[in-house]
Amino acid sequence: LEDVGVGSVRQQVVNLVREALAATVPDVEGLEPQVAQCGNPKNGDYQCNNAMGIWSKIKGQGAPFKNPNAVGQALAANIPRTSVTERVSVAGPGFVNISLSDRWIEKKLHQLLSQGVGAWAPKLSYKRVVVDFSSPNIAKEMHVGHLRSTIIGDSLCRMLEYCGVDVLRRNHVGDWGTQFGMLIEYLFEEFPNWEEIGDQAVGDLQDFYKRAKIKFDVDAAFKDKAQKAVVLLQGGDPNYRAAWKKICDVSRKSFDQVYKRLNVTLEEKGESSYNEYIPRVVKELEEKGLVEDSEGARVIIVPGQNIPLILVKRDGGFNYASTDMTAMWYRLNEEKAEVMIYVTDVGQNQHFDMVFKAAKRAGWLPANESELPRARHVGFGLVLGEDGKRFRTRSSEVVRLVDLLDEARDRSKQGLVERGREGEWSAEELEEACQALGYGAVKYADLKNNRLTNYTFNFDQMLDIRGNTAVYLLYAHARICSIIRKSGKDIEDLKPTGKLQLQHPSERALGLQLIRFGEFVEDAATDLLPNVLCEYLYTLSGMFTDFYTNCKVVGSEEEVSRLLLCEATAVIMRECFKLLGIKPLYRL
Ligand code: ARG
Repeated sequence: LEDVGVGSVRQQVVNLVREALAATVPDVEGLEPQVAQCGNPKNGDYQCNNAMGIWSKIKGQGAPFKNPNAVGQALAANIPRTSVTERVSVAGPGFVNISLSDRWIEKKLHQLLSQGVGAWAPKLSYKRVVVDFSSPNIAKEMHVGHLRSTIIGDSLCRMLEYCGVDVLRRNHVGDWGTQFGMLIEYLFEEFPNWEEIGDQAVGDLQDFYKRAKIKFDVDAAFKDKAQKAVVLLQGGDPNYRAAWKKICDVSRKSFDQVYKRLNVTLEEKGESSYNEYIPRVVKELEEKGLVEDSEGARVIIVPGQNIPLILVKRDGGFNYASTDMTAMWYRLNEEKAEVMIYVTDVGQNQHFDMVFKAAKRAGWLPANESELPRARHVGFGLVLGEDGKRFRTRSSEVVRLVDLLDEARDRSKQGLVERGREGEWSAEELEEACQALGYGAVKYADLKNNRLTNYTFNFDQMLDIRGNTAVYLLYAHARICSIIRKSGKDIEDLKPTGKLQLQHPSERALGLQLIRFGEFVEDAATDLLPNVLCEYLYTLSGMFTDFYTNCKVVGSEEEVSRLLLCEATAVIMRECFKLLGIKPLYRL
């Protein structure tokens, strides 16, 4: 297979346009290719929008061009004529329309089938990224907000990993702070033999937390002890340290169960791990002259906020912000992160805005956000219940994550049983399928919306086999696999020998959508919007349906070519599932 280039298809078109820019206006500096998908597919596949901008720079300078359209004409003439393009034309005030050649699209599809989807990975401008996500608080149950953070963060990690970025998946768990005094003292009282007991014995930590809190609020002597315990813990008393560790271990085990079910990997680096670095970071900021006194606290004033960032509390203690400033320092200096991504609900917008602005004042981050290193807050909206209010259980408790996953799985199982799969499949197959469907449905329902909007949690909707759901998409994928199976041909044999040819318009449309996979990942990863990839996948599935409606596959003259197109579609759908954290199923 001859070389068909690397990076996303758009990046390849950008390279052609870059050559055309250099050849057309060599004296105009700082020109970046402006390449977008054609607004109207009738005009072409991509368009270059540089002509008008160039015109406004050069007009009146005795330029060789009469108008922007003439600039467009010259650009079009200078687009290298390679096997990539079929047709280049100019429209209106200089839009250059570029159509990819069918032969080249076919070659790209062969590249996918022979080299795998890695060949299409876009190139990003950074190599090392910290993604801070999930990050629940010890001794409290993970709730739906943490579910969103886990699902969105994991998907972003997967996309960045696909692009070849070194991703540090950080679980910034809330494992430090004044609540531990109360928890430790309560542990001592409830479980005098706490050192010997198994983690199970402590039981439901959420409940444990509640009971400790009640005691803290009503029992003055207990409250006093708890406050002293904080000092002992932070001073490194071995007994208090051990008790703290015990509580963290119990929590960690229950978090890990959720991660395992969701198939999410994370490396825990909790708030406590930055504690030892806080004093030196505070000192650095003090020395830079950024820290001021405010009502006894040490603060950093940040532009555009009516409250300052509190670095040291009035009692000399550290807080959430001191830890985040220190974690950022650590990530930049020790972990050499070029991009730092924080995935939390939008309720923390202000906090991160202040942290990032303080970091800019400290010179840790450049003022210009297009430069590296860079920090980005990936905020997300609330999960709502049917009543349009914050998602709660009937007894108005916080919804427990594991219960949601259980219900999604069980409802999926019910669906499979209704469709008669129970007798047909082994118990393991059934279990695998209902987990893939159930957990996939929960993830996709979350990811398909723009993350900034609130979304309503609704099992019926997310498990609908006909809507824009994971269930629908998993069925669509399984159907493609079944078409290939029914042909009786071994697709692995066809890959090296068979020839894929795009003849029918719906074949070309499908082929083009397939080869554009990389640029959708590029956009989703750059804008940190997983819904972009969901939309791509849903559109792809629709295009496959068009193709399958219009083109006979099994038993047709074009069977081999069309089976290869089916396989390419299945490969890309699976890669989308993978990047969204959904497990594909081959039969349903
Ligand atoms: N533990 C926090 C919470 O549950 C989220 C932490 C987010 N990460 C960070 N670096 N502040 O609300």
